[in-house]
This record gives sequence, structure tokens and C-alpha cells, in this order.
Amino acid sequence: MANNLLKGKRGIISGALDHNSIAWKVAERAHSEGAQFTLTNAPIAMRMGEINKLAEATGSKIIPADATNVDELKALFEQSQEALGGKIDFVLHSIGMSPNIRKGKPYNDLSYDFFQKSLDVSALSLHKMLHVAYQTDAIAEWGSVVALSYIAAQRTFPFYTDMADAKALLESITRSFGYHYGKYRKVRVNTISQSPTKTTAGGGIAGFEDFFGFADQMSPLGNASADACADYCVTLFSDFTRMVTMQNLFHDGGYSMTGISSEVMDMFGKKA
Ligand SMILES: NC(=O)c1ccc[n+]([C@@H]2O[C@H](COP(=O)([O-])OP(=O)(O)OC[C@H]3O[C@@H](n4cnc5c(N)ncnc54)[C@H](O)[C@@H]3O)[C@@H](O)[C@H]2O)c1
Repeated sequence: MANNLLKGKRGIISGALDHNSIAWKVAERAHSEGAQFTLTNAPIAMRMGEINKLAEATGSKIIPADATNVDELKALFEQSQEALGGKIDFVLHSIGMSPNIRKGKPYNDLSYDFFQKSLDVSALSLHKMLHVAYQTDAIAEWGSVVALSYIAAQRTFPFYTDMADAKALLESITRSFGYHYGKYRKVRVNTISQSPTKTTAGGGIAGFEDFFGFADQMSPLGNASADACADYCVTLFSDFTRMVTMQNLFHDGGYSMTGISSEVMDMFGKKA
């Protein structure tokens, strides 16, 4: 059901790799709510070609940019404003990657070169995006920036290794830059802490399938889907959430506030 919540708004959506990506669902939903936006991803992701289908379906221009590269981000914001005809109202940061996870390195045996890459891609890239936008005054007043996080920033999930530290940094950057951008242009900056979701990034984590099931059983509402996450992103881009900023917002079916569920107790042979 579309309500024109984003009619007239201009955005930048990063991170749509394939139809499972959370960003893909956000783009579809933002389009159905009347937004115009550019799509961006790392040049290497362009080779898969899937993003072309999304661009066609949503009438969007694709602007490749490595989110760790400040010059490419400058070009992204410049070209997005040109293509859309004005300042940017919303930005989705939906970017994460850990070479340590990819190579199966556990937390007590990390490669530090990889660790720095994880932090750069998954957390500093948000700072770089905000920095470029701030310096070039690219985001309109009351604009909204949303990045995606995970509860491993607050609680230990051993399989999430250095991504836990990257998410903690991402959430800290959200608070710190949220203060400065709020003062400067009333731009709000938030993270959504999403349930485990079956995507390329999610599926790359060891034991993901088991953990996905566990989280689903722990959450009174079940795991939040990528589609539900897209709905939540749209509300945060809309004018109905103008006073929400510097927050980490759990979108997890109640997982973060549940100590134990009767379903999980039953798994240990005890009846609730
Ligand atoms: N899937 C989950 O379980 C889950 C849960 C909570 C949060 N998240 C977060 O959601 C976000 C989106 O991930 P997803 O699950 O949709 O997976 P995904 O693999 O579809 O998306 C990750 C994206 O990051 C992009 N990327 C990687 N390096 C980049 C770079 N240098 N520059 C620009 N883009 C780059 C990839 O190309 C890809 O499009 C990530 O921040 C992820 O950590 C995912």
C-alpha cells in the first residue's frame, strides 16, 4: 500500500547487490512511495549487473562509488544532485563487509589489515559520506540519513567477529555526526539495528542459518524481514519522524528486549 510518504523527495540508496539486499527492498519501497533517487554500489558489484534491473524498475540512475573513497563519494553527491535536480533529502547507508569473515578468521586470530578494511568499509564509510555531504552542503534541511546496524554492537555474538566492532563504531559515528549535522542543517542521522536477514552479507557469516532460526524463536514477533526493514526506512526518510536523530533503533521483532522465550526453553527440554 503506497501513501506517497516520500513524494517529491530525492535520495541516494547504496548497497543494492541483488534482490535479497535490504537496500533493494528499500529502493522498491521508496519508489512506490514517490521518491526519486540514485543507486550506488562499489564498482566491483556493478559487474554482477543485477543492479541494472532495479535501476530500470525504479527509473534510477546508477552512480558507482567505492564508499571508502572520498573523491568517489564527492562525485556521487554531485552527480546525484545533478540527476535529481536539487539537494538530497535522504541517504541509505547499507554497506558492510569483513574480509576476516570472508576468510573465516575467528575473533582471536584476526588479520589486522583485514580488520582495518572491515572498519573502513562498514563504518568509516558512513563518516566519509556524511563528511562529504556536510562539506558540500549536499543534504537539504530536515534530511534523513539511515545506516544499517546489528545488535552485536551491544551484545557479544562470537561469529560476528570484527563486524561487531565495526557496527559499534558505525553507531558511534551516527551519534557524533548526528549532533553536528543536526546543528548545521537539522539533518537527522540514525541506525536501524535489523534482525538477521537472508542476504549475501548475512549468509556469509558462519552458522548464520542456525542463528537465524534461534533469533526467530527468541523474538515475540519473529525476525523482521528485509521488506519490513524497508517500510521502517521509509518512515525514517519521511517527514513523520523529523525529531528522531542520533538513535540506534531496534527493528528486530522484540529480540533485543527478550531474555528467553518459551520456544527456546522448550529446546532444552523444559516446558514454559
Ligand atoms: N543480513 C543481515 O543479517 C543483516 C542484519 C543487520 C544488519 N545488516 C546490515 O545491512 C547492510 C546491508 O547488508 P545486506 O544484508 O543487505 O547484504 P548485501 O550483501 O546485499 O549488501 C551489502 C552491500 O555492501 C556493498 N559494499 C561492500 N563494500 C562496499 C564498498 N567498498 N563501497 C560500496 N559498497 C560496498 C556490497 O556491494 C553490497 O551491495 C549491511 O550494513 C549489513 O551489515 C545485515
